[in-house]
Amino acid sequence: MRTQVAIIGGGPSGLLLSQLLHRKGIDSIVLERKTKDYVLGRIRAGILETGFVDLMREAGVANRMDAECIIHDGTVISYGDTLFGVDFKDLTGSHVVVYGQTEVTRDLYEAREAAGGKIVFETEAVTIHDADSDAPHVTYMVDGTEHRIDCDFVAGCDGFHGVSRQTIPLTVRREYEKLYPFGWLGILSQTPPVHHELIYSGSDRGFALCSMRNENLSRYYIQCSLSDTPEDWTDAAFWTELKRRIPEEYADRLVTGPSIEKSIAPLRSFVTEPMRWGRLFLCGDAAHIVPPTGAKGLNTAASDIHYLYNGLLQYYAEGDSEGIDRYSEKALTRIWKAERFSWATTNLLHRFPDQNAFDLKIQQADVDFLRENREAQSVFAQNYVGLPY
Ligand code: APR
Ligand code: PHB
Repeated sequence: MRTQVAIIGGGPSGLLLSQLLHRKGIDSIVLERKTKDYVLGRIRAGILETGFVDLMREAGVANRMDAECIIHDGTVISYGDTLFGVDFKDLTGSHVVVYGQTEVTRDLYEAREAAGGKIVFETEAVTIHDADSDAPHVTYMVDGTEHRIDCDFVAGCDGFHGVSRQTIPLTVRREYEKLYPFGWLGILSQTPPVHHELIYSGSDRGFALCSMRNENLSRYYIQCSLSDTPEDWTDAAFWTELKRRIPEEYADRLVTGPSIEKSIAPLRSFVTEPMRWGRLFLCGDAAHIVPPTGAKGLNTAASDIHYLYNGLLQYYAEGDSEGIDRYSEKALTRIWKAERFSWATTNLLHRFPDQNAFDLKIQQADVDFLRENREAQSVFAQNYVGLPY
């Protein structure tokens, strides 16, 4: 088989790239290790920057999102007895959109299928060959048979555990990582959200987040120990702990119900450099991970896709390789700022096992400064709604 762009990974990064390229007449094949149902069963974050929304529009997949999304003009931050709002609209003129990553992925699959896009599921042993030459190819197995795709470029959109990043030799690759000594326990429940905005809450028992998907579907998280498992937490124990970690006025009106999903994710910051090796380009979780505080995971994937898509267009339409040559540099410049914001917001609101009384006073001072200072809030809001591409 031959295609212009072989895309490894059928998560949001790979599907969005494939759909955008298709609209410009550039052919791609997506290879996905799991089944479609498996990919759509993963519950991930649900806050989209306007840059992401614009890309969905450009990809022609925004109809359901535009009809069902909820616009958020601000967020609530709480820390101990300190409680305040950050007004994105007032501070930046912009907003974010609540629309689940699962729905984004579903819309992209529907669009790819409607257009007859090539997606191969349950691929095994995907291997990228000759990425540093002018003629790369990809081999993979399905049902015990080997297949080969010859291509111009390979997009590594295969997440943190994929093969693309590992294809770049260790002599070229540099990895930066920070692990946090806790995880997030998240639940989804068919209950109305406790508040119309998100609540990010630091408390002496640890961090909590009140989020949502729609008016009858809520997503809540609590900071938990890395040794915890979802089975350790009954729904009742989760709700009791959440109520203890959020301001009383919200705890009093929290509507609880059975969880329809419960999972734990460890927190990690990770970046690999460079994001390009020859004709292989890394995108999304394959290249970088952020802790979820600030909801930058999917949004950083989107900015990578924006840079790569535009670079490929420039290459195919104008024969100019400037965009793809500068891909890694452009993507990383923005990624590191999102890494900084996610790290800083995690530090601001979580309890760390080794924090002493001094550290806690500094944390409170940081929160107080953010509450009192319009410029500080403006910096927070600019990062939250998304820095320009
Ligand atoms: N071959 C083929 N597919 C693979 C391979 C492989 N060797 N390894 C992984 N995959 C697939 C995974 O099964 C997954 O469906 O690649 C896909 C990667 O998808 P994601 O992990 O969702 O990563 P990405 O598309 O970059 O999405 C960005 O933003 O909110 C964050 O982490 C969140 O998923 C989210 C991400
Ligand atoms: C979510 O709704 O899942 C969510 C929202 C905001 C975050 C992280 C996760 O910062």
